[in-house]
Amino acid sequence: MKNIACLCALLLSVSAFAQKFEGLAPTPPMGWNSWNTFALNVNEQLIKEIADALIKTGMQKAGYTYVVIDDGWEAMERDSLGNLRPDHLKFPNGLKAVSDFLHSKGFKFGIHNCAGSKTCAGYPGGRGHEFQDARSYASWGVDYLKYDWCNHGTANAQETYKTMGDALHTAGRPIVYSLCEWGNNQPWLWGDKIAHLWRTTGDITDCYDCQDVYAMGWKYILDKQAGLEKYSGPDHWNDPDMLEVGNRGLSLAESRAHFSLWCILAAPLMAGNDVRNMSNEIREILTNKDVIAIDQDPLGKQGYRFMEQPGKEIWVKELSNGEWGACFFNNGNARMEMRVHWDYLPFPKGTYQIRDIWQKKDLGNTNADFVGHIPSHDVLLLKLTPSK
Ligand code: GLA
Repeated sequence: MKNIACLCALLLSVSAFAQKFEGLAPTPPMGWNSWNTFALNVNEQLIKEIADALIKTGMQKAGYTYVVIDDGWEAMERDSLGNLRPDHLKFPNGLKAVSDFLHSKGFKFGIHNCAGSKTCAGYPGGRGHEFQDARSYASWGVDYLKYDWCNHGTANAQETYKTMGDALHTAGRPIVYSLCEWGNNQPWLWGDKIAHLWRTTGDITDCYDCQDVYAMGWKYILDKQAGLEKYSGPDHWNDPDMLEVGNRGLSLAESRAHFSLWCILAAPLMAGNDVRNMSNEIREILTNKDVIAIDQDPLGKQGYRFMEQPGKEIWVKELSNGEWGACFFNNGNARMEMRVHWDYLPFPKGTYQIRDIWQKKDLGNTNADFVGHIPSHDVLLLKLTPSK
């Protein structure tokens, strides 16, 4: 009797541990997601054109690997056996064909669903079907699952997301698991055991600082990241939502600042623009390898807000090999002069060589004070390298 009780206790404690595929996201995942530009208008042709454009524009080479189909890919009902299935008009050849196409071009395939009974747009959600759905995803060759939180009723977030995580693990195909719970239940406190990344806020939209019930501009999202840096790292990233870089409501400066700050945050970089039709300036922002290197630095440390004063902020990120990223951000409405006395900044003592990353210019070293001019809503992004 005693032995049986021991065994039961052991089994219970084992099943209480979440299972997760380790090592799938040593640096923040990069890719493209359909939602910010195409909303529910997704289909096979679009995904193929986007994949081709990612190759043609150099985005794939710059690191954008996951092509993620967000909400709207499903048929309105499961099949008679309860299986999820794609809308046959949007995806006439099924999702395995899309997945094979993406894999043949060197991409990884991502998909969206929801932990609730229905997705936010009313398509079938995963609640109660987790193990069955995970088997479908594995059979379609899915590499990345974004799992939303609409229509969850009274479900407990941690338990519900753990169930899907266990289902993915049981299905046996390594899949990056991206929680989209909007930060409601502080997923940064428990998400690392279950998933590779988790959203920290509600939805982003394509403006600097507008706000409505469901969505907000990137400045509001940025403010909500301050203090979360200690919860992020390799294989467990805070996700301040996908990129609006290149979308209508942002000026070029705002797109550049948004991208710079997301890289300082070690944010997952999911482009959300129509990469088939983007300007050269936007392509240059999204593919700047020195900026991306800050995001993807192998140390995996999220940067933090070191200083905030009316009109200006300084964000810093520790990088490998003793280097630092520093982002001076003008959040005011007028051009600003920024005077920097380097001793004031939090870097370990020593002299550093300064590189202006966007201007691709060396700016001397940190022995002298620095004066920069930053237009409204723009940034000065510097990399500091210890002098030899
Ligand atoms: C939620 C998510 C968005 C997007 C939509 C799709 O709002 O936060 O990122 O996936 O659902 O309906």
